[in-house]
Amino acid sequence: MAQFGKRRAVEGGESHFSCVVFPTALTTLNGMGDLASLLKESWSLVEEHQDKVAGYFYARIFLKYPDLRDLFPVQMDVQRSRLLGAIVTAVQTLEDPERFDEYLRALGRDHRKFHVEPEHYEVVGGALIESMRAFAGEEWSIEYDQAWADAYAVIASKMLAGADADPNPPYWYGEVVAHERRSRDIAVFTVLPLQTLEYRAGQYLSLECPRYQPRLWRVYSPANAPRRDNTLDFHVRAVGAGWVSSALVRRMQVGDMVKLAAPMGSMTLDRRSTRDAVFVAGGTGLAPIKSLLEELTRYNRTRWVHVFFGAQTREDLYDLADLNRLAARYPWLSVVTACSDDPTFPGEQGYISDVVAKYGPWKEHDFFVSGSGRMVKATLKRLAELQVPSVRIKYDSFTD
Ligand SMILES: Cc1cc2nc3c(=O)[nH]c(=O)nc-3n(C[C@H](O)[C@H](O)[C@H](O)COP(=O)(O)OP(=O)(O)OC[C@H]3O[C@@H](n4cnc5c(N)ncnc54)[C@H](O)[C@@H]3O)c2cc1C
Ligand code: HEM
Repeated sequence: MAQFGKRRAVEGGESHFSCVVFPTALTTLNGMGDLASLLKESWSLVEEHQDKVAGYFYARIFLKYPDLRDLFPVQMDVQRSRLLGAIVTAVQTLEDPERFDEYLRALGRDHRKFHVEPEHYEVVGGALIESMRAFAGEEWSIEYDQAWADAYAVIASKMLAGADADPNPPYWYGEVVAHERRSRDIAVFTVLPLQTLEYRAGQYLSLECPRYQPRLWRVYSPANAPRRDNTLDFHVRAVGAGWVSSALVRRMQVGDMVKLAAPMGSMTLDRRSTRDAVFVAGGTGLAPIKSLLEELTRYNRTRWVHVFFGAQTREDLYDLADLNRLAARYPWLSVVTACSDDPTFPGEQGYISDVVAKYGPWKEHDFFVSGSGRMVKATLKRLAELQVPSVRIKYDSFTD
């Protein structure tokens, strides 16, 4: 497996990593504070030229290694800064590499779906430093070079270790076996993976639909607990100008093939917990909640479970019939619905975050929250006001 060496010198503007054994913790390189401040200081030299740095970064990679262009989405204009931005964020937040160990290992496992090979890390690391150096001007120093090389190498080695240790395939093929439009913007569809795909209720998976949006991966949460027949239901909402979601909702058909990868996420049930539970879902944020509910139906006898399901209009409460069927069947389950933009809706009026607060008290409950970034943020704020301990809250935010 490739390992990255410390950059020894700046020669003629070309970055090259010598392949010597690399330290595995930043603490062995520099004082952590020193390294962090070097990274921040140097990034501030190029920050205002981010777009140009990104353009240069990709140009360096594709010029030197044209084959790597095939790993990236066709529409590089919209996607342009995804990788560079991600690396810069990862490097800059790396104050404590061990804290991010599991995340970086998972990221490395996940990168196999992009067809990333170990040798590509060196190429990308080199292009990263060359691009920053090109735009920083004379203030760039050899210490900055070293700091980025060191930090990047720690991240890369963790990602590579994660990729190397994963016994699973980089992705699974699956066939769409059902597809139903539930509203103008929402579809519910079912995928049958061609090989067994293990995941836990509440997790999410990456999905690519090569027929309509090749090489664009997005994450979606299966809406069912693992089944014997392996099938996975997805609830997808087409967002504004969204590339992938609109294809999944409006174009995808039964018989289409998708790729699925890397189950991730920790919004899972703790079977040892005896606390009652509250599930708060906004729109298609219902998907992982439904998966968790399905798991509970398999073993729960003792916990009261309350579901709060909110959307703008009643049309967006696209799966209410099924939810009501579950509530009718399981006496421990109750469902409260709310619309924020439908004055004649007979359930609760307003944002679901506010509606939850009208019920309660909730201080002793486990919470699971899922939906758009705005909805999740508002709900977490409300729960903090209600003094729900944050350790009892698990959440997935669909947007940053
Ligand atoms: C952990 C996790 C689980 C998820 N599970 C689901 C799921 O089960 N069902 C589901 O429908 N989605 C889910 N998502 C969201 C999904 O991953 C995509 O982000 C979403 O489908 C948009 O992708 P796109 O390619 O269509 O949009 P992009 O082309 O990526 O974005 C286009 C534009 O839309 C904006 N945008 C992106 N997402 C949203 C949004 N949710 N609301 C409003 N504007 C947005 C972007 O900022 C951008 O301006 C999940 C996200 C995460 C992080
Ligand atoms: C330190 C090393 C790296 C880090 C921290 C990193 C991080 C990331 C992150 C967080 C994403 C977004 C993931 C997503 O949206 O699902 C991403 C996307 C991607 N990465 Fe990496 N990456 C690294 C190295 C590499 C390398 C070496 C390659 C090989 C060329 C690569 C290729 C890609 C591709 C093709 C994408 C998808 C781009 C897109 O959709 O626009 N990455 N990376």
